[in-house]
Amino acid sequence: MITVENLTKSYGGFFALSDVSFDVEKGDYIAVTGRSGSGKSTLFHIIGGLDRPTDGAVIFEGRNSINFSEKEMARYRNLEIGFVFQSFHLEPSYTVYKNLEIPLLIAGIDKNTRDERIRLNADKLGIADKLNNLANNLSGGEKQRVAIARALMNNPKVILADEPCGNLDSLNAEKIMDIFTALNNEGITVLLITHHIKDAQRAKKIINLLDGEIVYEDRK
Ligand SMILES: Nc1ncnc2c1ncn2[C@@H]1O[C@H](COP(=O)(O)OP(=O)(O)OP(=O)(O)O)[C@@H](O)[C@H]1O
Ligand SMILES: [Mg+2]
Repeated sequence: MITVENLTKSYGGFFALSDVSFDVEKGDYIAVTGRSGSGKSTLFHIIGGLDRPTDGAVIFEGRNSINFSEKEMARYRNLEIGFVFQSFHLEPSYTVYKNLEIPLLIAGIDKNTRDERIRLNADKLGIADKLNNLANNLSGGEKQRVAIARALMNNPKVILADEPCGNLDSLNAEKIMDIFTALNNEGITVLLITHHIKDAQRAKKIINLLDGEIVYEDRK
């Protein structure tokens, strides 16, 4: 589904990523581990179309996303990818409903379908009773469930989650990890960055980065 080919990202003479290659199969669950500064977020930003590499390719269903125009890239991010961040990246002064509506408005979805999808995903993530709350007033676990619902809004093929439990207590972290497992069981491809070996072990494959290079890949 996705082939990452010889990805390199350099800042001056410093290599944040160096010749990184691997395959992501449809329905895969891949955990990316590695110490701070090893290039994990850089890798996800490039796969998710938030950044471009210095060299290499990301072949997404046969098309090299690295060659996308800015407009094609924005469409790719909006429709194909669901991004989940450690710090949620919600619009704090908007209601949960409005936060969930943003990716649908960008995609040009009509009002009735927007409402339907918002209620469906809010139900699924257990935040249906929070739709009229301001995002700012939610607990951390609730914020992350809203962020996941938002990521799901346009039925993406891939979820990219960059340390989604980094700001959560262990009980909420476990709940969020259960959600990713459930989504993967539904067929969504999941790529997860984590520092916790226990979370990484939920994945079908673990990729370990060090200084921008893959040190090992381990498929179950
Ligand atoms: N814009 C930039 N300019 C210069 N160096 C950068 C830039 N962005 C990232 N880097 C460097 O690239 C390296 C990889 O960064 P990255 O954020 O991908 O690490 P990470 O593995 O996600 O770390 P963490 O676990 O702390 O989130 C780091 O050494 C970082 O300082
Ligand atoms: Mg990071």
